[in-house]
Amino acid sequence: MITCGVVGATGLVGETIIKVLQDRSFPSVSFHPFASDRSEGKMVRYRNTEYAVKVLTPDTINKGMILFGATSANIAKNCVPMSIAAGALVIDNSSAYRMDPDVLLAVPEVNGHLITGEENIIANPNCSTIQLAVALSPLRQLGNIEWVSVSTYQAVSGAGTPALEELKRQQNGTLPANAADSIHENIITSIGPPDEGGFCSEEVKLMNETCKIMGTDFPVFAATARVPVRTGHTEAVVVKFDNIVRSDEAARILSESPGVAVSEFGSSPLDAENTDIVTVDRIRNNPRDSSVLQFWVLADNLRKGAALNAVQIAEEYLRITKQ
Ligand SMILES: NC(=O)c1ccc[n+]([C@@H]2O[C@H](COP(=O)([O-])OP(=O)(O)OC[C@H]3O[C@@H](n4cnc5c(N)ncnc54)[C@H](OP(=O)(O)O)[C@@H]3O)[C@@H](O)[C@H]2O)c1
Repeated sequence: MITCGVVGATGLVGETIIKVLQDRSFPSVSFHPFASDRSEGKMVRYRNTEYAVKVLTPDTINKGMILFGATSANIAKNCVPMSIAAGALVIDNSSAYRMDPDVLLAVPEVNGHLITGEENIIANPNCSTIQLAVALSPLRQLGNIEWVSVSTYQAVSGAGTPALEELKRQQNGTLPANAADSIHENIITSIGPPDEGGFCSEEVKLMNETCKIMGTDFPVFAATARVPVRTGHTEAVVVKFDNIVRSDEAARILSESPGVAVSEFGSSPLDAENTDIVTVDRIRNNPRDSSVLQFWVLADNLRKGAALNAVQIAEEYLRITKQ
């Protein structure tokens, strides 16, 4: 009897997890939505039944429950230990536990084989990291990767409900835009606070999480930006190998890889929105260096970048534990 719940069920990721659970006929027999006390009692629809949102307390958690965490990292630092202590498995979307050496950071297509069924928490990576790892990992068949450079064009929904509301209000003129930090008709070239070396937190996540998931130590050079797109992250990727590589061979490998579609026509985030696939677009060899590949990677940040990846982790956990 599988019981599942979503903590942050009223947010963008939480709502998408609920959709994905239904789309994939997740085999749960009961469902529990949780959010802040502001949302307590609000009704959430799951498989034709309305459920009242509850506040997470030790009494509202069942032993053996699968809890999808879809809150900020600060909230997760309270909810996750409480859930584990009450006997739940947590699949957490926040950054709170991703780099904890004792916590698996999973992308099922890349390192799903590391799920043992003994976990009480599995971390879901950052949205921009997931799509990069899905595209990069199969390319290791071409040779040793020396370094990767990635520049991102990240959708506003990646920053949660308040950011999306702000974009809508700036677009319809009910919130005045200012040149410094408005997203409407703008590009914000840093996402999150800078570290001492000048990298913003989104860049640090992309650089560190990619290596943790792939079990590699080649450098990932990241430059991350927020663009006024609703949903769908776009990444320009450059990969340097230690040998000559061919773009047609890369396209063949990727087209045979799980969760990936190869495109040659110039895909856009609008194409990616509401899809479950990571699209690798316009793979090409650098004309001056045949050990370098360049391509675009696109995915829906709320689905493969968050909700779908989390549900795939849960499915793999259930397969391993034969539930
Ligand atoms: N958006 C993306 O594309 C994306 C991708 C990957 C990972 N993530 C990560 O996923 C997490 C959620 O992101 P989001 O975009 O869904 O944010 P969001 O839209 O702002 O939603 C936040 C959710 O957290 C809930 N919450 C706030 N305080 C709470 C509390 N004390 N107890 C329980 N729930 C509480 C909110 O409930 P109320 O409605 O009651 O306030 C809401 O349901 C973040 O850690 C984010 O970094 C997001």
